[in-house]
Amino acid sequence: MLDKKVIVVTGGAGVIGQAFISGIARKGGIAVVADVNASAAVRVAEELRKTGPGSVEAAELDITSKQSITALIEDLMRRHGKIDAVVNNAYPRNKNYGRPLEEVTYEDFCENVDSHLGGYFLVAQQFCKAFKVQGYGNLINMSSIYGSMAPRFEVYDGTPMTMPVEYAAIKSAVVHLTRYFAQYFKGAGIRVNCLSPGGILASQPASFLDAYNSHCASKGMLSAGDVVGALLFLLSDDSRYMTGQNLFVDDGFSI
Ligand SMILES: NC(=O)c1ccc[n+]([C@@H]2O[C@H](COP(=O)([O-])OP(=O)(O)OC[C@H]3O[C@@H](n4cnc5c(N)ncnc54)[C@H](O)[C@@H]3O)[C@@H](O)[C@H]2O)c1
Repeated sequence: MLDKKVIVVTGGAGVIGQAFISGIARKGGIAVVADVNASAAVRVAEELRKTGPGSVEAAELDITSKQSITALIEDLMRRHGKIDAVVNNAYPRNKNYGRPLEEVTYEDFCENVDSHLGGYFLVAQQFCKAFKVQGYGNLINMSSIYGSMAPRFEVYDGTPMTMPVEYAAIKSAVVHLTRYFAQYFKGAGIRVNCLSPGGILASQPASFLDAYNSHCASKGMLSAGDVVGALLFLLSDDSRYMTGQNLFVDDGFSI
């Protein structure tokens, strides 16, 4: 399905990134774990290398640094002669991220929007420039259901969790950046789509899971592996005529 396609996953050492890398390698792709945490990227690549028939590589990448992004692009072009796709999947946040609305400072809001949304823009801009020269390319941006729907704050009652206000600003912008890039690069062989998962299981409190799951159709909160099929579809030629779209994978939570 992805035979020998060179596919970069930013934040590839994270929860969803690892599932993506494993799925890409299983389908025969050359998966690049590109993460600011270089040692985690190496560890993940070593662990997932055996999931082949494809292969897994590790790379250090800071999505907020133009120099870091262009160095990765140049290295992959030199070694593989092409880059087929990039998945904008990293999740930068500062130490104050996730505070309740009233406690978010202007500085923290801007810093989180800068690194996450700004980083997604920079990755998209630099890879699409390289894709344009090469004549083709596939960009997939990770948004979230919360890029399109208002939060259901009541599911967080009785927990210290919330849906951060920065996240709403960032992820809704990611959906629209997707449309902007898709429109801008029409005719250049470049497709740009967005993937919007619901919440992902990560040892959340039972009360939260019960409340969350009551809005779902069958399983409830999904695991990272449950989102992989949609990513592989967007990466593959099966979706060759899709661009500018936003695919939800949330077991119905958002409807
Ligand atoms: N986990 C969820 O519930 C969920 C739901 C919907 C969407 N998403 C989205 O999926 C994506 C991945 O989320 P996750 O839960 O796997 O996150 P995660 O925190 O598990 O992993 C994020 C990875 O990004 C890396 N990273 C952070 N800053 C970076 C930078 N500047 N440059 C490069 N890498 C950097 C981290 O080192 C980490 O390995 C994010 O876009 C997130 O918003 C997550």
